[in-house]
Amino acid sequence: MYGLVNKAVEGFVKEQMGDDGWAKVCAKAGLNDPTFISMDSYPDSVTYDIVGAASELTGLDGATILEGFGRYWMLYTAEEGYGPLLEMTGTNVHEFLENLNIMHSRIRSTFDELRPPDFEVTDATDDTLLLHYRTERPGLAPMCVGILHGLAERFDQKITVEHRDKKDEGADHDTFFVTVVG
Ligand code: HEM
Repeated sequence: MYGLVNKAVEGFVKEQMGDDGWAKVCAKAGLNDPTFISMDSYPDSVTYDIVGAASELTGLDGATILEGFGRYWMLYTAEEGYGPLLEMTGTNVHEFLENLNIMHSRIRSTFDELRPPDFEVTDATDDTLLLHYRTERPGLAPMCVGILHGLAERFDQKITVEHRDKKDEGADHDTFFVTVVG
């Protein structure tokens, strides 16, 4: 995964556990004081190992950590220079999700080895939609749930997210039923 993601994970862990906590997480993950470069690509195992170590040290399950990270990711990218891109992508949750694939493909010019996930919106009504999430990477659905909540906060909307189809329980891909409640 690109360093941009790992740097955001580092920021999130430091926010939650402090600098000492980050040092402990790195030690447990077998990483020696890493300096992530946003534009460099790292093996996915680096990201998974950090989440695994944070989970062991805090006693929180990996899904809870990934969901928290997803929320943080929206704030982080806005501050790291991707604010204009976020603004162009949409002005509410539904519109943003319709344009999510275009958004990820726009950043391919900077991240040439990007292997982005694929999102599709179906069954949309005025206040509900079904979001389909396809990826080659396992276990990251909770991150989507967190990002969705972060997105809603960005647009001052209130949403509920129901994780319906689950790939790790045998479904073809993950789906999320999103309801805008305010
Ligand atoms: C400006 C905002 C965003 C930027 C700059 C961005 C960029 C990236 C980058 C660089 C990766 C790593 C992929 C790789 O290394 O191959 C990634 C992964 C991912 N992105 Fe985005 N992204 C943004 C917003 C979003 C949003 C709004 C969602 C909504 C759900 C999302 C969902 C994901 C997921 C789930 C992954 C994990 C990889 C996977 O599932 O295979 N991203 N993104």
